[in-house]
This record gives sequence, structure tokens and C-alpha cells, in this order.
Amino acid sequence: MAGEDGEHQSGNDEALVLSRLEEDHHHLAKVMRVLEAQLARRNDDDEEVDWSLLAEVLAYVSEYPDAVHHPLEDRMFDKVLDKGLTPAERELVHFNLSQHAEIIGATSRLAADIDRILNDIVVPIDVVVEHCERYLDMQRSHMRNEQVHLFPLAQRLLEEADWREIAEELARQEDPMFKLRQGRYDSLYDHVSS
Ligand SMILES: [Fe+2]
Ligand SMILES: [Fe+2]
Repeated sequence: MAGEDGEHQSGNDEALVLSRLEEDHHHLAKVMRVLEAQLARRNDDDEEVDWSLLAEVLAYVSEYPDAVHHPLEDRMFDKVLDKGLTPAERELVHFNLSQHAEIIGATSRLAADIDRILNDIVVPIDVVVEHCERYLDMQRSHMRNEQVHLFPLAQRLLEEADWREIAEELARQEDPMFKLRQGRYDSLYDHVSS
């Protein structure tokens, strides 16, 4: 009976981890749509990009996806690397891990650029917009790659004990906007929930 409970609990751990990661992706996709909609305003003479809203986007990404979501995935992918992988699978995992570092760097560079715009320091807006567009593409292709290739690989290779250890991290930090509804993200939250 105890064994059955243990198994049930472990199956739960896998579901808990994957549902948290997928929910995070769903939330980040919503936030990226806000970024995309703001960039599209440049094509309309009557509309201006709301740079403070974009500053909120970058603050959110650096506080939660960059600081909590990717490290949780790193923990999962590190365990995947300990399993028997084909060279192609191994390369896929390493590429994804290095993309985390790339995304985290890009978030802080973009946040700094937007901060300069908000402080009326002269910055080439076209270059910032181009960086935002590249950032958007990278976030989207990164999530797609994880959903299509990496998560199924983890599901295939990780064992109950692995999922249990990863699941222990889940309570570490909740999403500050979608879960904790912290006030500093109020205007972004209005946009993602409208
Ligand atoms: Fe990731
Ligand atoms: Fe992810």
C-alpha cells in the first residue's frame, strides 16, 4: 500500500513539474503578445509605443521566467544529460541550456535600453525595436523547442526520483504577477488579462 502511495505521489511530481512549466510558457506567451502589440504601434502614426509598459514586461521576465522558470528547467535538463542520450539529443539539450544564458543576457540588455529611452537618453529607437523583435522570436522559438523536443525527452528519460527532486523546487517562488498579483505589474496584468 505504501508502495502504491509512493508511486502515485511520484507520478504526481512529473505532472506537477510539467504543468507548472507549461503554465509558465502560456503566461510568457501572453506577455510576449503585449510586447508584439506595442511594437506594431510603430506602424500607426496615431499610436506610440508605451515604453513604461515594455519596462514592466522586461522586469517581469527578469524576475520570474529568467530567475525561476529557466533555472527549474536547467535542473531538469541537467538530469536528462545524465541519461543515455544520442549525440543529437545531447546537442539539443546543450543548445537549450546555452539559450537560457542568451535570453537572460538579452532581457537585461533590453531592460537597460528601455530604461535609457524612459530617461530621455538618446538611443537609436530603430535598433532597440529590432532587438525587441529578435528577442520575441527567440523567446517563442525557445518555448516551441522545449514543448516539442525537450519536455517529451525529459518525460521519456527521467525517473520518479528525478521528478521528485525537481518538484521540491516548485514552492521556491511563485509567479509574482499571474499568481501573487504584485502591484508593480498592475498595468501589464491589465493588458494580459484583457
Ligand atoms: Fe527555457
Ligand atoms: Fe521554458
